[in-house]
Amino acid sequence: MKVLRTVDQMKALSLEWRSRDYIIGLVPTMGFFHQGHLALMDKARSMADRVVVSLFVNPTQFGPNEDLDRYPRNFEKDKYLATEHDVDCIFFPDAEEMYHPGFQTWVEVTDISQGLCGAFRPGHFRGVATVVLKLFNIVQPDFSVFGLKDYQQVQVIKRMVEDLNIPVKIVTHPIIREPDGLAMSSRNAYLSKDERKSALCLYNAIKIAENMVKNGCKSRAEIKKAVNEHILSYPYTKIDYIFVGNPETLEEQTVFDKKILLALAVHVGKTRLIDNAILES
Ligand code: PAJ
Repeated sequence: MKVLRTVDQMKALSLEWRSRDYIIGLVPTMGFFHQGHLALMDKARSMADRVVVSLFVNPTQFGPNEDLDRYPRNFEKDKYLATEHDVDCIFFPDAEEMYHPGFQTWVEVTDISQGLCGAFRPGHFRGVATVVLKLFNIVQPDFSVFGLKDYQQVQVIKRMVEDLNIPVKIVTHPIIREPDGLAMSSRNAYLSKDERKSALCLYNAIKIAENMVKNGCKSRAEIKKAVNEHILSYPYTKIDYIFVGNPETLEEQTVFDKKILLALAVHVGKTRLIDNAILES
């Protein structure tokens, strides 16, 4: 497996592969791999001749008071895991390589970035869309795999690809969970033993909502109320949002369609966790 640290090296390798008509799959990540990341790599492996994983803790998607400096990192372990999962290349640039002095061009996906996480993390999706477009231009993949754990991120990227005619197919992968249901996340490493117990509130609240809908509930307000009460019954929890609405436009809606998105962001202690599910009646 190759580890490439510069844009020029990555572009040259991609060009060589493309000249041989290889199908290239890209998995963008910020590292500290867990089963969620590895499932995306396996998915890419099953579809591509060559798999590139980018590992870049992208500073432009972190707010000033967020966890950029303490974001967990372990490159040696990541390298080992990526090799085990038959990845061909890790693209591992540093911040100076991705953002030259004088950098001033941004991708802004407007409406769909406004609500949910966008409302609590101003500028976050601008940073995500910009770095993902840069990665697409550098790696020139045929397709790129994203996890539905970051549901809004997937919608933002799909919108960007459609709006800017980007020739990359977006492939999605379901959420990978711990045996007890907690969605895997690099940020779970921040949780203390007690907080880890409280972190289960997101998954358990989703289960409650799923059951309500299965049993015929069609009221967004009732679902939100039950989810809210359940989450707040755990210690250390603070809710950013409980969204119940349209899975495509991410607008809250009055009509309860067959499929409705429940998306949650909850602080457990100092750790912000997200989770979501499509509720089907
Ligand atoms: P990161 O949080 O490292 O996630 C990389 C990819 O793994 C994303 O597509 C994310 O949705 C997926 N992922 C994370 N946890 C998952 C889980 N439990 N199940 C399934 N997929 C999961 O998301 C980012 O990095 C960044 O915003 C990035 C897209 C790399 C841009 O910087």
